[in-house]
Amino acid sequence: MAYGMIVFMASRVSGTNVFRSLSKQLTFSDEDIVGAEAFEDEDAKYIDSARIEHLENLMLPIDGKRVLDVGCGVGHWSDFFLNKNCALVSVDARPENINIFRSHHPSTESHVLNVETTSLSPLGFFDIVFCYGLFYHLENPVMALRNMAAVCKEMLLLETLVMDYNLPLSRVVNESLSANQALRGIGHRPTPSYVVFLLNKEGFEKIYTPKMPPCHPDFTFEWRNNMDTTRDGNNLRCIFVASKNKLENENLTNIL
Ligand SMILES: C[S@@+](CC[C@H](N)C(=O)[O-])C[C@H]1O[C@@H](n2cnc3c(N)ncnc32)[C@H](O)[C@@H]1O
Repeated sequence: MAYGMIVFMASRVSGTNVFRSLSKQLTFSDEDIVGAEAFEDEDAKYIDSARIEHLENLMLPIDGKRVLDVGCGVGHWSDFFLNKNCALVSVDARPENINIFRSHHPSTESHVLNVETTSLSPLGFFDIVFCYGLFYHLENPVMALRNMAAVCKEMLLLETLVMDYNLPLSRVVNESLSANQALRGIGHRPTPSYVVFLLNKEGFEKIYTPKMPPCHPDFTFEWRNNMDTTRDGNNLRCIFVASKNKLENENLTNIL
């Protein structure tokens, strides 16, 4: 091998270019780690109300259904489902979140459960599995989705941060250890086609996205296919309605 080629290969492996931004991506300061108050700040309230209003307006058949809320946090979605006479079961991997959940909703069934590692099957089957704000905090999104699909009879409602790109890829990201983030600091930013690919592989024949997004800047961006995961200071988010059967709903666009 020519000397020039050896130097070239060595510089590639030592990674002066390839790994340049990695150390910055791997650091977090202790100040970035917050407890359950993360669920109550103004940003959280803004996006909660935008998503709740949006789901209400989608007119999906939710009333009276058996619903599993996966990654329920401290329970900000519980009243939405309880007000619709749903039989609600809520799970979250963090005991401190479930303790707060129980203090607000003592008569709602709830469990400390890691959806990536623990089967949901002992909880029974659900008409609707609700998974907002969780998918991108998972280190094993495929295992979690398989677990959720196994107990879902009708619809999986999934909201996630995304990466703006056409191919089915997912970018690994460093997350703080705050109470509303990934369990061990490993999160993902999947592309929409990655999410749809997995949903279909796990048995959802029909996949839809809302024609109108929630009124929040995270949802109202233009696709540029440039691998952005944030833009103009906002995350990029999408909602997917995955169904075992065809849905007739004029608020949804069929994407598969
Ligand atoms: C951003 S919060 C979302 C809360 C709520 N679903 C919402 O949309 O407002 C993410 C929640 O997922 C939980 N979580 C993270 N990884 C989890 C896992 N592997 N299994 C279950 N819950 C998990 C966190 O503890 C946190 O409460």
